[in-house]
Amino acid sequence: MQSLKEIYESHEGRLLNKWTHYIDVYDQYFSKYRGQEIVFLEIGIAHGGSLQMWRKYFGEKATIIGVDVNPECKQFEEENTIVYIGSQEDPIFLEQLKNKIPKVDILLDDGGHTMKQQITTFNILFDHVKEEGIYACEDLHTSYWKEYGGGLRKKSTFIEFSKKFIDNLHAWHANEIDKPKIHNQITTNVFAVHYYDSMVFLEKKKMVAPSNTFKGEAQLKNHFLNYGQKKKITKRIRAWLGL
Ligand SMILES: C[S@@+](CC[C@H](N)C(=O)[O-])C[C@H]1O[C@@H](n2cnc3c(N)ncnc32)[C@H](O)[C@@H]1O
Repeated sequence: MQSLKEIYESHEGRLLNKWTHYIDVYDQYFSKYRGQEIVFLEIGIAHGGSLQMWRKYFGEKATIIGVDVNPECKQFEEENTIVYIGSQEDPIFLEQLKNKIPKVDILLDDGGHTMKQQITTFNILFDHVKEEGIYACEDLHTSYWKEYGGGLRKKSTFIEFSKKFIDNLHAWHANEIDKPKIHNQITTNVFAVHYYDSMVFLEKKKMVAPSNTFKGEAQLKNHFLNYGQKKKITKRIRAWLGL
């Protein structure tokens, strides 16, 4: 079986454009889906080359769905490859899309890359990715490019939006006042958030509050959790240690 890199490097079909390092990262997360009856959704079709690449990669059993604002992309439909025309920054279009397509195993946002497009798409389509699926967004460098609405630490960028996922993942550990501010669908549905240059991958999985366990018995006589504050073992840490 050809690797994605081999498929990409030898591609001679319709025009295809990817940053080179993306290929290995895709392979790392997507390879387990090869040869299976999965639903793969790519936003952003351009000249149709990536739809051809994904077909070769995932195989005939995959349902490949493409979305693009350009009506000309409709011509890339073929057996088991469906194309929807509409804008990813239009919430009504995205809601209608959700009603038309099954939940997806993988969603890859390679569309227009503006802040509004990436954030609207995430807000509406994240819950349309299956429980164990993957949500990926690429070309995150536009969060640093003025022409796309970007700018370093600018609050409205997708990068700043996605940095909040880190708090959401840790909501289980926040105090009672802060918890409601950060406990959301990411907390209960995301196992991991992975960043690469210009890419973020969210691995979905049903999550429950993490548990901490001890194994073995022998212990040091003097054991301090925090050497600076050896007398201040709080109630929370006592409970955590089972003391
Ligand atoms: C980077 S290209 C996609 C490249 C393609 N996935 C590939 O790998 O060859 C971006 C595509 O997003 C589309 N696009 C731009 N704005 C959009 C929007 N608001 N909604 C949906 N698609 C959009 C463009 O028409 C263009 O085809």
